[in-house]
Amino acid sequence: MSVARAGVIDPKARIKVLRTGVSGLAPSTSPTSSALRTFIDRILTGDCIEALRLLPDASIDMVFADPPYNLQLEGSLSRPDQSVVDAVDDDWDKFSSFAEYDAFTRGWLSECRRVMKPNATIWVIGSYHNIFRVGAAMQDMGFWVLNDVIWRKANPMPNFRGRRFTNAHETLIWASRDAAAKKYTFHYETLKAANEDTQPRSDWYFPLCTGAERLKGADGAKAHPTQKPEALLARILMSASNPGDVILDPFFGTGTTGAVAKRLNRHFIGCERDEGYIAHASARIAAIDPLAEALLSQPTPKREEPRIPFTAMLDAGHIKAGDLLTDAKRRHSARVRPDGTLDAKGIIGSIHKIGALVQGLPACNGWSFWHLDGPTGLVCIDEFRSEVRKAAA
Ligand SMILES: C[S@@+](CC[C@H](N)C(=O)[O-])C[C@H]1O[C@@H](n2cnc3c(N)ncnc32)[C@H](O)[C@@H]1O
Repeated sequence: MSVARAGVIDPKARIKVLRTGVSGLAPSTSPTSSALRTFIDRILTGDCIEALRLLPDASIDMVFADPPYNLQLEGSLSRPDQSVVDAVDDDWDKFSSFAEYDAFTRGWLSECRRVMKPNATIWVIGSYHNIFRVGAAMQDMGFWVLNDVIWRKANPMPNFRGRRFTNAHETLIWASRDAAAKKYTFHYETLKAANEDTQPRSDWYFPLCTGAERLKGADGAKAHPTQKPEALLARILMSASNPGDVILDPFFGTGTTGAVAKRLNRHFIGCERDEGYIAHASARIAAIDPLAEALLSQPTPKREEPRIPFTAMLDAGHIKAGDLLTDAKRRHSARVRPDGTLDAKGIIGSIHKIGALVQGLPACNGWSFWHLDGPTGLVCIDEFRSEVRKAAA
């Protein structure tokens, strides 16, 4: 298909579904997978709004979108040595007005929202040129913003004119389909474990895509002006998707999303209207080997694990009636009663209530607070709960 300028659909357009170096993964097991099968691990060639209309409702697990930035560059930009900066001045980034850009944005966002499963999430990346317009459109349309994530660039392009701050970050909006979506995927525990056991933060630090990862044309020039780093996509996919999920990217470019999805055992669907970029993306994805499945499995999030009552510790023999529990520093103590409650100086209650009471706090997680003296020292009672869970699985 031919498209004269970004955001304008050619009425005679035909969407081509292009086979890529697909993964050998089993197709998604989701209920809508049969209607989706034709499109899985494929690049749809043509305008994305038109292409997205082909996809069934509520069939996609996660969307990553890197839309045109609408940079509105005026003239070329030179470095102090008079060499010309390789800026984004492509036709696909040109819109005649904010109104045209907004109409285009709402067009693709509304198709993305239609194809998202109820608990799917969407990530949209952009710069100050477009991200506020995109964010306003998303909120108007009913998306529910979960976070804005800052990608701080380790090696940003300098501000050659010295008239503004160096533009050293991009913003990612992470949103669910609507406020009611509570069961979206977020791998809090593994992200925390990989972050020195501290909560994962919303400011990320990555270099721009350079070196061997940067795709080049036959002339040695960059194949695409805005190829995103694979590390950024890997963080997103590992945070908010599962192996086997279908990830949609309406602005596929050189296929960074497809390459990372394949490596991480996810499926992808890409839309791209430039045949040159598609050729690069297809070759790139074909060369990717997926990682072993065992490396990618995720533990069940703690909050989704089955509830286990404290009495189960007594039933399993880990703790006995009459045992003394203390906190990790042995400052507070309580005695275990045969009914599974605790007694602290005559006050009786659950492990949580008594834990809060002895500390003078409004609330306490008794599972992490209380410990039992064992032959090797204090053991947190949460370890007994894990054993009981394992035995019940
Ligand atoms: C910011 S770039 C995406 C780069 C990509 N994330 C990567 O890592 O290579 C946006 C891409 O969207 C494509 N594009 C722009 N308008 C489009 C449209 N209406 N339909 C399909 N693709 C479009 C452009 O050709 C460009 O490759």
